[in-house]
Amino acid sequence: MAETPLADAIVLFGATGDLSRRMLLPSLYFLDADGFLPEGFKVVATARAALTREAFVDQVHELLKARPEGIDEAVWARFSARLDYVACDATSPDGAACIRPALKGFSRPIFFLALSPSLYGRICVALAASGLATDESRIVMEKPIGRDLETSREINVAVGAVFDEDRIFRIDHYLGKETVQNLIALRFANTFFEPLWNNLTIDHVQITVAETEGVGERWPYYDEYGALRDMLQNHMLQLLCFVAMEPPADMEADSVRNEKVKVLRSLRPFTRADAQGSSVRGQYTKGVVAGREAPAYETERGQASGTETFVALRADIDNWRWAGVPFFLRTGKRLPERRTQIAIQFKPVPHSIFGPASTEDLVANRLVIDLQPDEDIELLLMNKSPGISQGGMRLQSLPLSLSLLRTYEGPGARRRIAYERLLLDVMHGNNTLFVRRDEVEAAWRWIDGVADAWKEAGLAPKPYAAGSWGPSGAFALIERSERAWLD
Ligand code: BG6
Repeated sequence: MAETPLADAIVLFGATGDLSRRMLLPSLYFLDADGFLPEGFKVVATARAALTREAFVDQVHELLKARPEGIDEAVWARFSARLDYVACDATSPDGAACIRPALKGFSRPIFFLALSPSLYGRICVALAASGLATDESRIVMEKPIGRDLETSREINVAVGAVFDEDRIFRIDHYLGKETVQNLIALRFANTFFEPLWNNLTIDHVQITVAETEGVGERWPYYDEYGALRDMLQNHMLQLLCFVAMEPPADMEADSVRNEKVKVLRSLRPFTRADAQGSSVRGQYTKGVVAGREAPAYETERGQASGTETFVALRADIDNWRWAGVPFFLRTGKRLPERRTQIAIQFKPVPHSIFGPASTEDLVANRLVIDLQPDEDIELLLMNKSPGISQGGMRLQSLPLSLSLLRTYEGPGARRRIAYERLLLDVMHGNNTLFVRRDEVEAAWRWIDGVADAWKEAGLAPKPYAAGSWGPSGAFALIERSERAWLD
């Protein structure tokens, strides 16, 4: 395959917003620090705020200094020289045109849309009208791409009218996380998992994304979406795809994405009965998280709301490999701890040769992949505890543990922001870790089915105290199949 030419500039739309300040500008700085930004690469920040370039550069300096990693002034001198700021309303053709002088001499810009998805279509039209959307430019879109299948299609059509699919980069920042990519290595760079990776050996899979933070100031966005659309439609279904997909032939973007789409299309549609029996919606009330009092969602919101801040559900994949293996997904805000984890629970041994007392200690094998806050992989194996007692062999489940941070200690051990990897891939035109249009639409189709089933069943969010593991129904949901959450 011909090498795609490296991008020579990036335009950040929404440069004064939260995502740019917390993730994008620091990621670009760290890429520069590690020598990944080519000479002359330019960063054009744009937003409506009437700021001068100097004032914007000062703001970026301050936000980088405030980060725990600290700032290297020599890198800053290089990075700040790349920065430019243009105050404009990019949704009007004139607004987009006012970026043109800042891009003079740059022919392969990346346009990063870090603002409301309702503006994506209009910005693309404006980019085309102003002549900035050239054949060599690329566009990056943040989630959420729509609120359902219909609105995501509208966005995809509007953006697709200006940019070809291979120049559209739909970001799901989970795909930039080391441990998520490591799932591919774990599954396909080892011989022994793959033959066991199916319904003959695996009992079920649990995927948990627990957050201690609440919704806080983000409620105007969040209240429209809720946990199902904010977390499940994208991050959690992507994790499920990486666990469940067939081995792709290679790491080319379409090879990987074809396999993920097949998984999404094999998800069993949710019915009204599933809404009641296989899903739970929750909303946090006041409580205590990590020793600190936390207000109720409705207090943050300022009024009553029917939006869920917690969801747990059972998903089934109707294909040969996964028939009969439930995937239990659970995510929520204001839970007792921050934890993103995938657990693959293997079946118990078919027959115990150990006496009754030892058999009680026999635990089925489990592979636990921790993505956050620690990056760890543990394989729980049964062992004999040392000793010479006559009452039968004492058995104990012990972890074979691989801590990525411990293993890769040293100067390269800084945990990268997921966006660093993704921005570098956009610069190189590599779409493997980005979501293709049919993939995002397949995910929405299934999520719309869940939302419709909830509506039909009249399933309102159940209250749970901040600092708890969600409504009691979440426990009943998994216990109905004689399994339990691995807390
Ligand atoms: C975002 C969601 O996509 O992911 C947020 O909109 C959520 O609600 C965040 O808090 C979680 O990301 P991470 O990387 O902190 O797990």
